[in-house]
Amino acid sequence: MTNADLIALAAEMTRHSYAPYSHFHVGAALLCRDGRVWTGCNIENAAFGPTVCAERVAFFSAIRDGARDFERIAVVGGEEGRITSFTYPCGVCRQVMREFCGDDFAVIVSDGKEIREIALGDLLPHSFSPADLAR
Ligand code: THU
Repeated sequence: MTNADLIALAAEMTRHSYAPYSHFHVGAALLCRDGRVWTGCNIENAAFGPTVCAERVAFFSAIRDGARDFERIAVVGGEEGRITSFTYPCGVCRQVMREFCGDDFAVIVSDGKEIREIALGDLLPHSFSPADLAR
């Protein structure tokens, strides 16, 4: 699966986004090392706090299904689903990624024209991780 394939799946997922408050529709596609893909979209809430990002929906769906070995995630977003700039994962999602992935986990983003790849280690340096709680 190429980065472009994964971005296409993420872009398709923006159509499922529930974002009546921000109108910012996000899609994510998470690739496992065995080739399986889980997708997610952002789901907002009138109380704001319960809102979840597309990345976490993808991760939690994968974990729910027993997947653990993740390779890459593609993320795209934009107002009403129009992808015109890069959408990088928020801090909370970066920390959720860190729970299950190492520094080499790749985050793929696109502005609809160019595709960029950045390592989780560069997005969340000096992170707190499960290793810090290892006995
Ligand atoms: N959002 C995501 O789904 N992923 C990100 O990486 C950034 C933000 C969502 C949360 C909220 O529904 C909307 O985008 C505006 O913040």
